This record gives sequence, structure tokens and C-alpha cells, in this order.
Amino acid sequence: MRGRDLQGQLDAFLVDHAEQLIAFRRDMHMHPELGFAEHRATQRIVGLLEKAGLDPRVLPSGTGVICDVGGDGPTVALRADLDALPLQDEKNTPYRSTVPGVCHACGHDVHTTVLVGTSLFLAQQAEAGLLPGRVRLIFQPSEEILPGGALKVLQAGGLKGVDRIFGLHCDPRVDVGQVGLRLGPITSACDKIAIRVSGPGGHTARPHLTADLVFALAKILTELPAALSRRVDPRSSLSLVWGRVDAGSVANAIPDGGIAEGTVRCLDDEAWHAAPDLIKSLLESVAAAYGVVAELDYVRGVPPVVNDEISLQMLTEAAQSVLGESAVVPTPQSLGGEDFGWYLESIPGGFARLGVRTPNTPTIADIHQPTFDVDERAIAAGVRLMAATALTALWEGQRPSAAVNETVSSSTSSI
Ligand code: NI
Repeated sequence: MRGRDLQGQLDAFLVDHAEQLIAFRRDMHMHPELGFAEHRATQRIVGLLEKAGLDPRVLPSGTGVICDVGGDGPTVALRADLDALPLQDEKNTPYRSTVPGVCHACGHDVHTTVLVGTSLFLAQQAEAGLLPGRVRLIFQPSEEILPGGALKVLQAGGLKGVDRIFGLHCDPRVDVGQVGLRLGPITSACDKIAIRVSGPGGHTARPHLTADLVFALAKILTELPAALSRRVDPRSSLSLVWGRVDAGSVANAIPDGGIAEGTVRCLDDEAWHAAPDLIKSLLESVAAAYGVVAELDYVRGVPPVVNDEISLQMLTEAAQSVLGESAVVPTPQSLGGEDFGWYLESIPGGFARLGVRTPNTPTIADIHQPTFDVDERAIAAGVRLMAATALTALWEGQRPSAAVNETVSSSTSSI
């Protein structure tokens, strides 16, 4: 009964607001902002929420917004991320980025728009006395930079009093109108490393009289991933991949310094904890063999996002009730990192893959590619999913707590 009522209310809301939301997304897409610099987006969100009668507050870090809707009762948080990537937009659309070298190639403009739409819908629900608790809207800055903005939200007390949190991410492999879900880990741990090598430098005619730094750096680039594949349980899928290397300036001079940067991804918590020490010892042994000095800068990124059974059930019920019985599809664990994982270190929650592919399209650009774009019907689908998930969680949260606790303890052992 609730599901049918909700569906009708969402239909009516989206008839009135779908165009406005698409316009909001396109404007944000044209004016992308990098992590911790999302001032324009922050102001626009604050303006819209205030106009809806809400009381948003900007995070102390200067960008990002937290806002509560509703009153006493269980509290559920919904989170979107605001930042763009340092990439050139190579799409040919009227709403392509107007900022050189910055582009919403990860769909965070869509996540933000979905949460804006959900906020406006929930504000209407609250006004009509239909919100059985409180929803905390978290517009998080800087998901792409490690360590991400989730930590700023936590430092600002963003999860205080929150029972459960939900989020989503665009997925170009899933059709629009569908939602990819998975029990247990859905993303992976992701850290960042930088290795600086140094040596005396010299003439390429006499590598034996100095330390052949470029050769040593090349050995580090190939030996580290190779050794890790033999020193770490393959089931943890620990993967070191380089994204940047730089050394030297001329063909006949051995440089005195060089740098390599990359990411370490891992499906498994234990291997993630052991990775920094292992990489350091492997690096030192390879560097020593070639007489160069190597320094490791290891930046902890994010833990895996792990969906618990109850939150997954809420997402599933919500998706099926407002997007259709066949809307939920299985999704594999991604090697991508997502700082939503930090929230789940303290409270349970669920993370969904929002379909953005036009059905029957053979291939579309992946996220982080400069031509990435979405089927904008995903915005309405996202609003339906987030609103229904929040309401489902609030309805469930009103049940006697003993029943919920019982399910929590039995679900923990099955993950
Ligand atoms: Ni992203």
C-alpha cells in the first residue's frame, strides 16, 4: 500500500521537477569544480534547499552541505559527492564543460542532482507529515582526492545520530532504470603511492661509475607488481598499477632523480593492512641492487565499501517497489575505490550502482573517460531509488529494535 502511494507521489513530483533537475545537472556539468573547490555547487544546493524551507549548513571545510529533513525518530543519511575530475571534456554536447581541463567524467553531477531531487521530494513529504523520522542529506565534497571528503564530513559530526547511510554511483554497464546491487564488498580498498628515487647522476657512457637511475626506476616499475603477485595471496587481488613516471631530460645524461606514482587496490582487508610495509621492503631491496636511494610516500585512501544484509534488503525492496520487480541486477565487486567506505566503518549502510546506459547501446564510455556521459533518465530513477530507500529504512527503523538487532547479528556472520 505504502509502495503504491509512494509511486504515485514520486510520479507527480517528477512530472513537476524532471526538467528542472536535468537543467540543474547540465549547469553543474558545464561548471565542474575539483575536490574542495565546489563553491558554486555548494551555493546552488544551499539556495535550492533554503527555497524548499530547509536549513542547510555548509561544512567547516568550506564546500559541501549537510541538511536534515523531518523530525524525531530513526535517522537515515543519504550521500552524494560533488567533485569533478582533472580531465578535458571531449564530448560534443551543448552542456560540455566550460572549464578547460576539468570535467564531470565520473557522474558526480548526476549523484548531486539525484540528491537535490530527493531532498525536494522529502521536504514535500515532511511538510505533508509523511516522513516517519529524519533524513540527513550529505552533499560531500572531494570524493576523488585521497584522503577524500568523507573524512571531513565525519570530522564535522555528519553521522552523529545517524542509524544507517545510503549512496549510489553511476554505472555505464547497467541499463537506465536498473540498479546493480551486491551483498558484501562492492568496491575495493584504494591507496596512492609515490616513489622518489635519487642517485648521483652522470654520463650515459659510464653507468658503472654512478647509479643508473632510469634503469633502476624501470626495474622498480616492473619488479614491484611482479613481486607483490608472488608475496600476497592472489585471492586478495592486490594490484599495484602505475599512472605516472618521470625521470631525466636528455638522452645522454643519467638523471639524479625520478618519480613514479600509482595506486594500490585490494579486495581484502588483511592484505590492505599489510601492504605498506611489504611494498616498502620490496622497494628497498630493488633500489639497493642498483645503488639508488628510494623513498616511499604511501597515502592511505579508502577501505572497501561493504553492503550489509539489512541495508541491501532495504535497497532491493525500494528499487523493486518504485522501479519494477526486474529493476535489481547483480553487480560484481569493482576494483575502484570509493570513500563512502569510511562511513561504513562506523555505521551500517548500502551502496548501489545506478544504471545510466541507454538500453541496447553496445558500448558507452566508462567512468573517468573524457567522453563519459549518461542517459539522463537515470536522474529520475535515482530520485525514486533514494527517496524510496530512505522511506523504507525509516519505516523499518520504527519496528521494535530487538527484531532489528537480531537480524543484524545473524547477518554479520553471513558476510
Ligand atoms: Ni566517482
